[in-house]
Amino acid sequence: GLEISRIKNIELIQMGEYQIEPWYFSPYSESVCNKPILYVCEFCLSYYSSKKQMDRHRIKCTLWHPPGNEIYRHEQISFFEIDGRKQKTYCRNLCLLSKCFLDHKTLYYDVDPFLFYVMTLNDEFGCHITGYFSKEKESTENYNLACILTLPQHQRFGFGRLLIQFSYELTKIENKIGSPEKPLSDLGLLSYRTYWAEVLMDLLLNGNGSDGGYLGSSISIDEISKLTAFTPQDILHALYSIDAIRYYHGSHAIIFNENTISNYYKGLAKKKRKIDPSALNWTPPK
Ligand code: COA
Ligand code: NA
Repeated sequence: GLEISRIKNIELIQMGEYQIEPWYFSPYSESVCNKPILYVCEFCLSYYSSKKQMDRHRIKCTLWHPPGNEIYRHEQISFFEIDGRKQKTYCRNLCLLSKCFLDHKTLYYDVDPFLFYVMTLNDEFGCHITGYFSKEKESTENYNLACILTLPQHQRFGFGRLLIQFSYELTKIENKIGSPEKPLSDLGLLSYRTYWAEVLMDLLLNGNGSDGGYLGSSISIDEISKLTAFTPQDILHALYSIDAIRYYHGSHAIIFNENTISNYYKGLAKKKRKIDPSALNWTPPK
């Protein structure tokens, strides 16, 4: 079909020490568009079209972390939970910023129905936003994530993986299973597939703690779903994506070929950061 999109209206964003080039149109107010640079405060996300205005703002702005409750802190990473109804300006500014990197999302102003989970990297100057995901307060379809973004300057360092893991840790605490809202972007799907496959291989090869894995034994998709909080559909999707489902001796079997296993160990060798669930201080909002 014909792709219809609006022309990119921001050339360059200056945010903290980074300059970022937007990928897509974002409905920032006309008055700041089509200027050489859009200046975005890295803490409160308010925006200006001149450096002078930004410098003036930085003197007045007292925030050094996102608003909301810090519900996780571990090894320089924090998560803040922000209610769209209580922090409308911040959340709208976050949506405007993230629309620059999202092609198909349309909800930028109605932030009330969402909670926003902002991830920061912390140093002596403050908690610097690296990415976030949003989540509907009530999802009739069991979506546990609406939008996910790693700011481009922080992409491909494993932060997307942390955001995804965090979304499932919340779902486990809620005693639910969940899945991201569809459609996912290409990058979103790639990241989820990689994440699902890693978690599933980890569970099936190594088990959940002391039990040593499921090699040579049997486990149902529903049991895997309970252990991971992934939906059965996402589990099958992920297993097919690594070519691990076989029809064998009259029933379905999960079989990892050598290539899949060697990819898994290569992934492990990267020693990625992980969320430590014991550092998560959260009960489901009522
Ligand atoms: N090319 C190929 N694989 C990619 C990729 C890319 N550009 N980006 C992510 N992946 C895959 C890789 O398998 C990667 O693991 P690896 O680096 O060990 O190979 C895995 O996803 C996770 O990467 P990670 O570094 O944790 O992700 P990220 O911090 O770059 O964030 C997104 C991933 C999707 C959040 C990020 O690309 C983004 O914000 N995109 C724009 C917004 C968007 O499309 N959101 C989803 C729709 S709501
Ligand atoms: Na899922």
